[in-house]
Amino acid sequence: MSAHRAGQRIRQLREELREHNYRYHVLNDPSVPDAEYDRLMRELEGLEAGHPQFADPNSPTQRVGAEPAESFDTVRHQVPMLSLGNAFDPQEVQDFHQRLLKRLECESLLYMAEPKLDGVAIALHYHDGKLVLAATRGDGNSGEDVTLNARTIQSIPLTLRGSGFPSRLEVRGEIYMPLAGFDAYNRAARETGEKTLVNPRNAASGSLRQLDPQLTAKRPLAFYCYAAATREGLPNNQYDVLMALKGWGFPVNPEMRKVKDADGCLDYYDQLGAKREALAYEIDGAVYKVNDFELQDALGFVSKAPRWALAHKFPAQEQMTRLLAIEVQVGRTGAITPVARLEPVFVGGVTVTNATLH
Ligand code: IVH
Repeated sequence: MSAHRAGQRIRQLREELREHNYRYHVLNDPSVPDAEYDRLMRELEGLEAGHPQFADPNSPTQRVGAEPAESFDTVRHQVPMLSLGNAFDPQEVQDFHQRLLKRLECESLLYMAEPKLDGVAIALHYHDGKLVLAATRGDGNSGEDVTLNARTIQSIPLTLRGSGFPSRLEVRGEIYMPLAGFDAYNRAARETGEKTLVNPRNAASGSLRQLDPQLTAKRPLAFYCYAAATREGLPNNQYDVLMALKGWGFPVNPEMRKVKDADGCLDYYDQLGAKREALAYEIDGAVYKVNDFELQDALGFVSKAPRWALAHKFPAQEQMTRLLAIEVQVGRTGAITPVARLEPVFVGGVTVTNATLH
């Protein structure tokens, strides 16, 4: 094949693979079977190997490159990565809503209601549509440069699709480990005698902070975006920003909803709670955000959290299991403690096998 033809085919394959990736990870509507995707990827790898002049670090073949790092660089966040105020019962949600109505001197508010994903926060920087930096939250003011690891996560776009995105874009979201991937990883680890992952949240955080990107690449991580850190060139409300990000190739959680007032938030919370067990990933509550950015700006911040958002947590998870035996332990001082041996049960992010019976 001539170099010219090879270059054309390489461009075409990259475009096609990106589009398949988008259909799979963002639209959840794969357009080709995995085998076809793999075939296109192999064809691209072959052509790139034969025509190194067309090498491109953002080619879909280049997700896992790079030698292991010695340490991560520190990155200062231009816009701090904040935390969220918490609510644990409906009254606190009502109080939050009433506070905002009073401050804004209005009678009703639209919120975006979103699942609170239990993973690790990430900031993704794009220059002219190319991923240039991925940073962890760290202490909120500065985090670690984990770009090489983030690049291995298939649902993080390396190159944005379409047009109209701002030339400088910082997208924030959560990296998480889907439950199916977590279980499959641990099943395989048990068979080969490797260390198992403790829970999906720790697994996501530990996987993202591997010095060797090859190791991160083997962990089944995924990503959902939930915000843009910058405002330039973007719509003026949360819902429209999420829709724009989706169009540019970022996965947006399908459970996000626009709701009205505290009652809308509380209905959402109940519906989400009912779905929780059936979701493919762990969540620990709902997040409510004032939709309109002008109103967000008017509300501003208290210490390290925005006044315009609230995390409404789910209660600690409960699970049923079988009591296998009760053993009696005698402590050094002679104190006797009965201990229940349980059929292992995954609850609240950990596997429980024993419980002291006071
Ligand atoms: S918004 C200024 N939305 O929860 C608002 N955060 O306590 C910043 N999180 O570390 C966050 N799901 O990583 C937002 N839908 C969501 C979220 C979410 C999970 C995490 C986030 C942050 C923590 C905030």
